[in-house]
Amino acid sequence: MHRAPRRHIVFIVASVAFILLLIYTQAPAVGTSDDYTLRYVKHNGGVCNCDNSTTERYPVLSYEPVPPPTRRNLPRIQHRFSRNTKPQEARRDAVKRAFLRCWSAYRERAWLSDELLPLAGHSRDHFGGWAATLVDTLDTLWIMGLKEQYWEAVEVAVTIDFTMPAADDMTISVFETTIRYLGGLLAAYDLCGDPRLLDKAAELGGVLYGAFDTPNRMPVSYWDMNAATNGHQQFASPQALVADIGSLTLEFTRLSQLTKDPKYYDAISRIMAAFAEQQNATSVPGMWPYMVNANRMDFHSGSTFPIGAMADSLYEYLPKMALLLHGSSLYEGMYRKAADAIVEHALFRPMVPDDADILMAGKVHADTEQARLDPSVEHLGCFAGGMLALGGRLLESTAHVDIGRRLAEGCVWAYEASPLGIMPEDFTVVACANQSACVWNESLWREDMRERDPKAYTALGAAPNQNAVSDEMKLPVGLTSITNTHYILRPEAIESVFILYRITGDTALQDAAWRMFESIQNATRTEIANAALSDVTDMAAPKMDEMESFWLAETLKYFYLVFSEPDLISLDEYVLNTEAHPLRRPRRGFWGWG
Ligand SMILES: *[C@@H]1O[C@H](CO)[C@@H](O)[C@H](O)[C@H]1NC(C)=O
Ligand SMILES: *[C@@H]1O[C@H](CO)[C@@H](O)[C@H](O)[C@H]1NC(C)=O
Ligand SMILES: *[C@@H]1O[C@H](CO)[C@@H](O)[C@H](O)[C@H]1NC(C)=O
Ligand SMILES: *[C@@H]1O[C@H](CO)[C@@H](O)[C@H](O)[C@H]1NC(C)=O
Ligand SMILES: *[C@@H]1O[C@H](CO)[C@@H](O)[C@H](O)[C@H]1NC(C)=O
Repeated sequence: MHRAPRRHIVFIVASVAFILLLIYTQAPAVGTSDDYTLRYVKHNGGVCNCDNSTTERYPVLSYEPVPPPTRRNLPRIQHRFSRNTKPQEARRDAVKRAFLRCWSAYRERAWLSDELLPLAGHSRDHFGGWAATLVDTLDTLWIMGLKEQYWEAVEVAVTIDFTMPAADDMTISVFETTIRYLGGLLAAYDLCGDPRLLDKAAELGGVLYGAFDTPNRMPVSYWDMNAATNGHQQFASPQALVADIGSLTLEFTRLSQLTKDPKYYDAISRIMAAFAEQQNATSVPGMWPYMVNANRMDFHSGSTFPIGAMADSLYEYLPKMALLLHGSSLYEGMYRKAADAIVEHALFRPMVPDDADILMAGKVHADTEQARLDPSVEHLGCFAGGMLALGGRLLESTAHVDIGRRLAEGCVWAYEASPLGIMPEDFTVVACANQSACVWNESLWREDMRERDPKAYTALGAAPNQNAVSDEMKLPVGLTSITNTHYILRPEAIESVFILYRITGDTALQDAAWRMFESIQNATRTEIANAALSDVTDMAAPKMDEMESFWLAETLKYFYLVFSEPDLISLDEYVLNTEAHPLRRPRRGFWGWG
């Protein structure tokens, strides 16, 4: 899941000057825009039938069809649970109660708007104004067995007009619209089979397809729907975040599978062909820089390689595409290379006081000859444990499943180390020399803390022991700085704990999940619903008036599923998109594939 929408925007604004410089100085070595135009696209001569929005400037000459499922049996993903594995009912019901409270508040106070404001009690729109929370939450209602609420919401969802943004802002994020709305509609269709939901998904898919009408067929990331329908010429972004353009694959592929219209799969296969072609040409071969030039088709220049914000779901979707296609040498090959590079360069063992054998995901900088690890950890990066474990099952690598487990435990550790029992958005630690052995060294911890915040550290004076330092600095022992103290009701940590539970069957993960749930519920509950926290190190810090749609779509869904019977949304039947929307994997039946 991959996102930090506001952070994206802030980041883009902040780096515009720098990027402009790059645009004028970079010459892509691999595949230029012109090559792609000649190879794939017929140029319409810029003649636009401006009264007819279905007329494209750069129509595709021929479509790449969705590959049929391969003949081989894919490895089993889930643990072989015993037949009488029971749900943990009391825990599951507590999650359901927390969910229902928020859903009812949304229904009463913010119905049809994008989000409920959990303090003020009214609403805001910031995802096109098409009722983001409603569409995002459909499948959670179904999964929790809330059929009455589900059908009430479906009746409304099928009347949303996606051809025009309801909110004033005409610019939409193609990525957010795809993962939240398109993913939500497709999953609801896959669960209940109501054809109106598929029609609605196809309507939205058709609208989003307009963002691909560029000379090289690379999509516009932040798309002005109005300009596009008025026939203005559009270009893909010279500073596209790889998560924005690299994780439209699952939703567009599922839409093609269900509608039998190949154009959606075709649209994303052009993007992924470029990622594949340039995967080995980057400064950290196997990984991609977080920002690429989609206008010039340069997908390899750049020196910062995070796996959290701005990159995350590009990686997450590689093994998931192999599962949705029932085998794919392209996606398995890309994932294998990416995962090996991530394990080698981006993962590290943190130095922590109990010498816990855990891993965390950092950022890689390749601004010098040697790729350098930056032990900055993001809550967003917690998805990586689930990815390595799921991908490990796909590649039949027990080493990767084990790495996934240690990553998930790293996030659980960070939850439990924090005073409120919740991991902050961003923090730093000391990285051990290697992933296999590490001993706690208080002076190393102090040194790193002093380097990061000399003023605060000096003001400390002579703190007698590490616990006193920790209290004074408001830093759990082990963390060396907290660069962002927020918790915005994010799902990535429970997502990985859920996937690891389904893969290993270890009930200790359910216990960890329960502690996480109690802490989150205790700290974020408001009179009305649940709200984001401004500071997870301070009980008294004010809450923020925000409840993003992923709280109901993802966080509470994962908490519900981890306590449920293991065949509810089995990972051998579904693949979950980065907004936790379950898409059905192909099934081999008596009459062939369905
Ligand atoms: C728009 O274009 C399509 C395809 O070229 C055509 O079938 C349709 O009749 C046109 N509609 C209008 C309103 O011009
Ligand atoms: C990728 O590049 C490395 C050297 O940078 C080379 O050794 C390797 O063979 C390349 N792999 C592929 C698949 O091109
Ligand atoms: C890992 O680091 C520890 C401590 O620095 C060292 O003793 C050990 O030999 C290293 N292990 C490997 C496999 O490099
Ligand atoms: C702990 O780290 C310091 C450097 O900060 C080093 O001088 C010292 O030898 C280390 N102690 C041990 C036991 O490794
Ligand atoms: C949450 O609150 C309940 C009730 O006040 C308390 O019993 C429990 O210990 C708290 N749990 C956590 C993890 O804070």
